Amino acid sequence: MKIIHTSAELKHWFKEHKIRPMNDLGFVPTMGALHVGHASLIARATKECEKVIVSILVNPTQFNEKGDLDSYPRNLEEDAIIAKEAGCDVIFAPSPEDLYGGEPSAELVDWGDVTNEFEGKSRPGHFDGVIAVVDKFFQVISPKRAYFGAKDLQQVAVVYKMAQIRHPSVEVVECDLVRDSEGLALSSRNSRLSKKGLKMALELSLALRKVKDTVATGMPVMQSVNESREALKALSELEIEYFDGVNNLSFSSSDKSENWTHIIVAAWVEGVRLIDNIRL
Ligand code: PAF
Repeated sequence: MKIIHTSAELKHWFKEHKIRPMNDLGFVPTMGALHVGHASLIARATKECEKVIVSILVNPTQFNEKGDLDSYPRNLEEDAIIAKEAGCDVIFAPSPEDLYGGEPSAELVDWGDVTNEFEGKSRPGHFDGVIAVVDKFFQVISPKRAYFGAKDLQQVAVVYKMAQIRHPSVEVVECDLVRDSEGLALSSRNSRLSKKGLKMALELSLALRKVKDTVATGMPVMQSVNESREALKALSELEIEYFDGVNNLSFSSSDKSENWTHIIVAAWVEGVRLIDNIRL
């Protein structure tokens, strides 16, 4: 496995390996701090593509708070071990300036509810940054397939839309959300939680599971969502931003419950913002 730090070096690697746009190239974008969830994306890409590139860049344009950007875990050596074991051929870890071709910036993108509701509302500018960086990576790499984890469900919808508009030849592949043995959705942010915080975080996935189970046994989904939201709100160590049903393509808060495909949640635990979701 090779580690490449500049776009020019990557172009050279493409030439060396006779890789042309739309060759069977798989791309897994990450911000590092790789865990089993990322490894599963890389492993899937390895199965489905001839060569796999994993990007590692803590993208400054998608952070709302400088503190969050500064404290984001960075450890290229550990990441390289995980990526290599999962079958990655190249880690592409450019500086923001190299990828953006200068000072990183993101233009405002308004694609309606999918960019403006839920995460779009809670984290203004976040999707502008995600769209900007993924667009840049797609331009430099020209992958055939790009793999994204379903934990960031709205991000998948946003990137899918971006690819449709700007990179129609790239197939956006949504990969299953990965949980630990207790059911906690894997996230690089979990490493910032204490033992007690991890226990509280688990309440989120338990609440999602409860909605799925009660709906399966006949409870109206709206009633079940409302009950679980209230139960979560009663927990003083959790601060709930939203707990709602959505359609995974529209992300409109006014979608009728019969069109909901998922229940999504965002909450703060010990100063760490966590998101999770479950398919109904
Ligand atoms: O999901 C992430 O880790 C990031 O949002 C992504 C897609 C790598 C863009 O920086």
